[in-house]
Amino acid sequence: MRRISRLCVRLWDRFYAPAKLGSDPVYGAATRELEGTSLPVLDVGCGIGLLAFYLREAGFKPDITGFDYDAPKIDSASRMATRSGHSGLSFQTGDARTSMPDFSGNVVILDILQFFTRAEQEALLRLAAARVAPGGALIIRSGLRDDSRRFRITVAGDWFAKLTFWMKAAPVCYPDAALFQSVLGSEGLTVRVEPLWGGTPFNNHLVVARRQP
Ligand SMILES: C[S@@+](CC[C@H](N)C(=O)[O-])C[C@H]1O[C@@H](n2cnc3c(N)ncnc32)[C@H](O)[C@@H]1O
Repeated sequence: MRRISRLCVRLWDRFYAPAKLGSDPVYGAATRELEGTSLPVLDVGCGIGLLAFYLREAGFKPDITGFDYDAPKIDSASRMATRSGHSGLSFQTGDARTSMPDFSGNVVILDILQFFTRAEQEALLRLAAARVAPGGALIIRSGLRDDSRRFRITVAGDWFAKLTFWMKAAPVCYPDAALFQSVLGSEGLTVRVEPLWGGTPFNNHLVVARRQP
């Protein structure tokens, strides 16, 4: 975490990165799900690329491509990659509502589905599923819509991020578990949905959809 923090370009990120990596269980969970794969990773909505740097520090060797529509974050991630000296890391700017890089391997989508309408979520999941190679996985973390207190705290947290300008967008629609089963199941993937609360108050879940080898 200290090494990743030192790579950060913006002063705020030097404090944010270790706090986020140290408190959020998703990076460890994604790393475990990717264990043993030799396929590359596409990280959609990568932000400043924390997952990519975490994976490299954990010894993950395949190529990693990050994709995000926030150009300053992509610029930070690219400069961090250069500073790190790691090979096989690249970052691209683009809007996942309208495009996604040509790719075949594992796809990761952490915490961006709430910025999409239901129709856009379904379109994004289908684009992502089409990029999952045989033997690969689509790994998603999202807050799920239900009637829990955790869900209400999740919504408040996303609005806080928007109002403090950390996120460009406000939350639009939260998916429910059934969306993943129906859309990704129909794309030929085997889907698992489980809580990923860690020590957080949020209603986060991990969705892992695998394509048979
Ligand atoms: C909550 S952050 C998560 C960042 C990163 N996945 C992580 O876990 O560290 C959500 C990210 O999704 C990006 N994002 C939101 N809507 C997007 C879109 N339509 N296309 C590409 N990226 C998007 C934001 O710019 C932001 O970096």
